[in-house]
Amino acid sequence: MSIIRGRFSKEADKKVIQYSESLSYDSRLYPYDIKGSLAHVKMLAKQNIIPKEDADKITKGLIEIKDELDNGVFVFNEELEDIHISIESRLKELIGDSAGRLHTARSRNDQIALDMRLYVRDKTKDAIQAITDLEKVIVEQAEKNKETIMPGYTHTQLAQPILLAHHLLAYFEMFERDKARFADSYKRTDVMPLGSAALSGSPYNVDREFVAKELGFESVTQNSMDAVSDRDFVIEYLSNAAITMMHLSRMAEEIVLWSTSEFGFMTLDDAYTTGSSIMPQKKNSDVAELGRGKTGRVYGNLQRMLVTMKGLPLSYNRDLQEDKEGLFDTVDTLLLSLEVFTGMLETAEYNTENMARSLKNDIILATDIADYLVKKGLPFRDAHRIVGNIVNYATTNNMNLMDINLEKYKEFCELFEADVKDISVESSIKSKNVIGGTAPEQIEYQLKRARKLLD
Ligand code: ARG
Repeated sequence: MSIIRGRFSKEADKKVIQYSESLSYDSRLYPYDIKGSLAHVKMLAKQNIIPKEDADKITKGLIEIKDELDNGVFVFNEELEDIHISIESRLKELIGDSAGRLHTARSRNDQIALDMRLYVRDKTKDAIQAITDLEKVIVEQAEKNKETIMPGYTHTQLAQPILLAHHLLAYFEMFERDKARFADSYKRTDVMPLGSAALSGSPYNVDREFVAKELGFESVTQNSMDAVSDRDFVIEYLSNAAITMMHLSRMAEEIVLWSTSEFGFMTLDDAYTTGSSIMPQKKNSDVAELGRGKTGRVYGNLQRMLVTMKGLPLSYNRDLQEDKEGLFDTVDTLLLSLEVFTGMLETAEYNTENMARSLKNDIILATDIADYLVKKGLPFRDAHRIVGNIVNYATTNNMNLMDINLEKYKEFCELFEADVKDISVESSIKSKNVIGGTAPEQIEYQLKRARKLLD
């Protein structure tokens, strides 16, 4: 008979056991469960809630169980519901009746809340580290390409010239905000729920602050009913992960696009591409596509948790057990995606000649020509219309804007002078010397700032 079926006359139905078990996936929480139990038992002894000899036995037993689990020799009994019961049952086998004192002043409700907070806290740190690793590669590549000129796009149409470094550093900004979000939700995760017991608090003289300190928590929860039933720290992690994946997915889309022969801006390393089973010429950017695709399941996991929580009355309800698989899947997906993308980017090559080639079509300078007229005194709307006509003329005659001679320019507007011919991609880029602009001076400043933030 399971250790928690005191009032029952028989075991649960086989299908019910299968339906309600969480052991098959919550076993990954064992390091956190044992860590929490070790702190709890230390507190119980310190407060004279249980005899010191029992506490010592429990501590020794838990360390032994941790060892068994670390070394993969722990034998899981699939009939046992979850990781908490599994560990407690093993403890009983190892040390006998003293094991029964571990669960004093504790419920699985505050125990799982603690495990989840310990876990999410750890994984939040991992996410921040993994994003930082990716950012380092981005900044490194931006550093190498602070003079590389490429076309900038809006609506995936040629728009204005930019520096490749500027494009790359846009992602640095996104990932900085992602990190800030994780760092912020960490604060709300870093609160210790043990002592809430089943829902209303503990009748023993527990020292909650001591447990919090033992486990490195910043503070303790202030309402036991909230503490056992709140999972918004999980939702925040899932949401932060979803936003990070969205950024990664945007990058993925560009990697896919840039590695096509049509764009040819980027060549991925063979280690990060795959072949086709039928077309021998293929070198596919599957890794980027998978990152883009996996973003969908990370969004799904967020949605799933929001829906699970939305109708729950206070306090603990078993629905909450459904918080785990989606979270674990998101943690695994996010960390692996970040790691793989870091490697993919690190080994990728930028084909700067192809970027230069697509700038040959100097239609990309149209806005600069309009700005030129504005500087000569024309209202921008007039300049916009005039340059529109010039672009039309160039396109119809299959010409570049800079191939049109000065006389023709003057026909469109008498404000044009010889210096209109000085307009180039370089002059365009140089002119965007505003905070956040693409001018080399600004990029130099942004690179310095990025390096400082990464230190
Ligand atoms: N496996 C449960 C969960 O993940 C642990 C808490 C169970 N508590 C209970 N009263 N049945 O939420």
